[in-house]
Amino acid sequence: MSPTKKLGKYMRHFLTLKDYTKEEILEIIDIALEIKKNLKNKVYKKELDMQTLGMIFEKSSTRTRVSFETGMYQLGGHALFLSNRDIHLGRGEPVKDTARVISSMCDMLMIRTFAHSMIEEFAKYSKVPVINGLTDTYHPVQLLADYMTMMEYGIHEKATVAYVGDGNNMTHSWLMLCAKMGFNLKIATPKGYEVDSQILEDALKMAKESGAKIKVMNDPKEAIHNASIVTTDTWASMGQEEEKEKRKQVFKGFMVDDLMMCLAKKKAKFLHCLPAYREQEVTESVLEAHADIVFDEAENRLHVQKGLMVWLDKQRDK
Ligand code: CP
Ligand code: NVA
Repeated sequence: MSPTKKLGKYMRHFLTLKDYTKEEILEIIDIALEIKKNLKNKVYKKELDMQTLGMIFEKSSTRTRVSFETGMYQLGGHALFLSNRDIHLGRGEPVKDTARVISSMCDMLMIRTFAHSMIEEFAKYSKVPVINGLTDTYHPVQLLADYMTMMEYGIHEKATVAYVGDGNNMTHSWLMLCAKMGFNLKIATPKGYEVDSQILEDALKMAKESGAKIKVMNDPKEAIHNASIVTTDTWASMGQEEEKEKRKQVFKGFMVDDLMMCLAKKKAKFLHCLPAYREQEVTESVLEAHADIVFDEAENRLHVQKGLMVWLDKQRDK
């Protein structure tokens, strides 16, 4: 029986961390840690033998494409790179038709797109699990890698994370992660570039259960003060290219430099999802001083997404 036919009625998608419990997030990371250990010992378990991951990209990518494609191959499967420049989706074929066609041929799907509603619609019509590889609203696979990295460095418990920059898909995903896992998060954005108010409200509600503490502000120094982890992201996300110059002016004062890092705890770590724009959101000096953890964070995309795909596969027919 082909893997597609094995699929029963029950399955999970991975569109946002909001839909996941703390226990499920830890289960995925546990699988990833085991897979990472095996890979370092050159042990490959073909857990997704003969399966195909369809990857639809409506935006550019280095890490997401390479990690999913390599990861699927290492699990015994195959990944298809589908640029919207090449498939009919980019020429106006409806999302619901594309979803029904591709999910009848592939075993799992990964989508990087603009509107979050597009991936929700895709998932609604898909017969197989859909993974969010970044939308304008969320980037949840990145945050799985970030938390895995925090665990490996032993800095996840009682962390106080300072996010300094744009209130974007990364910020929203930090909000969800923190609200689920129960650490502290301080977010500083310029006025007018705050996080989505509904997402903040949801996170604050969930934080009551997990014990997470969340604060939003407009002063980057206040956010970084005494933080154990400092993080940021590009000031102009994909799709905001025409705002680049304006944003450079607005975000002046939000650059994470050595002086800013001095306000954090003495051994504070710096994280960045990459790509990093030097002398904008972060200086060359800060990035290179923290290159070990930043590039471990990038590498963990490979391991954690393999963990996620194996976990999603196990949920079918449960
Ligand atoms: N961090 C991240 O998702 O990188 P890419 O845009 O290169 O995939
Ligand atoms: N906020 C960035 C993240 C890139 C990984 C973007 O959406 O372009």
